Amino acid sequence: MSNVKSTPILEAYHLKKEYEIPTGQLAVLKNIHLEIYPGEMTFIVGRSGSGKSTLLHLLGGLDRPSAGKIFFEGEDISRMQENELARLRNLRIGFIFQFYHLLPELTLYENVLLPSMIAGRPDRKWATEVLKRVKLLSRQSHYPSELSGGEQQRAAIARALMNKPSLVLCDEPTGNLDEETAESIYELLNQLNRQEGQAFLIVTHDESWAWNYPRILRLHDGMLLRENRGEVQIEQINK
Ligand SMILES: Nc1ncnc2c1ncn2[C@@H]1O[C@H](COP(=O)(O)OP(=O)(O)O)[C@@H](O)[C@H]1O
Ligand SMILES: [Mg+2]
Repeated sequence: MSNVKSTPILEAYHLKKEYEIPTGQLAVLKNIHLEIYPGEMTFIVGRSGSGKSTLLHLLGGLDRPSAGKIFFEGEDISRMQENELARLRNLRIGFIFQFYHLLPELTLYENVLLPSMIAGRPDRKWATEVLKRVKLLSRQSHYPSELSGGEQQRAAIARALMNKPSLVLCDEPTGNLDEETAESIYELLNQLNRQEGQAFLIVTHDESWAWNYPRILRLHDGMLLRENRGEVQIEQINK
């Protein structure tokens, strides 16, 4: 988390997203600029319905922008074919969602191993290691339904780290958890961020956690604003 200007992992320029709705077009994202650097921990806060999930889906290649460009490690993902996007999502980006999205018919160990199997290079040793890092090794043969919400989210975090992505996108990662469990999840994310050097982009409507971190952006009226402890200004961009 330094100011050394290395190459950004992720760059988004002039990003727009409009949805077709019965009454016309809904402009959710109007003009988004964003750069994420290696190892950075960034929060995007904003009210429910402000477009946080929409933005995360565009940045992670799960959906396409109406206009604008997204570069992932210098590659223009708006030009990628579906199969290239699937590869990007599998190998280079980790995803963590509010409702964990673990596969119910697989054990924790199998859930965590799965991304490496999809990549065609199952790594059983590393699956065991990441389960250890999220303190779930003793539960590895359990099914998701046998775990608490916090444990399921830790398993989802282990799965997100399986293919050693350079960026982890988190959508309301503690939205379904009580305060104490939420705190333990943020502690884990901090620790992984320090250990593995991965960048984390966390979007949440719950601002209470974000204030512990230096970089907070606010999504408001389709634009990203930089928050400086109460002061708000448009995030400056040099391009
Ligand atoms: N597929 C869609 N079709 C039409 N409108 C959508 C679609 N997805 C999201 N929206 C609308 O876009 C806005 C932003 O949604 P979302 O990105 O989920 O916000 P947030 O995650 O900040 O709560 C909301 O008004 C929502 O109703
Ligand atoms: Mg959302």
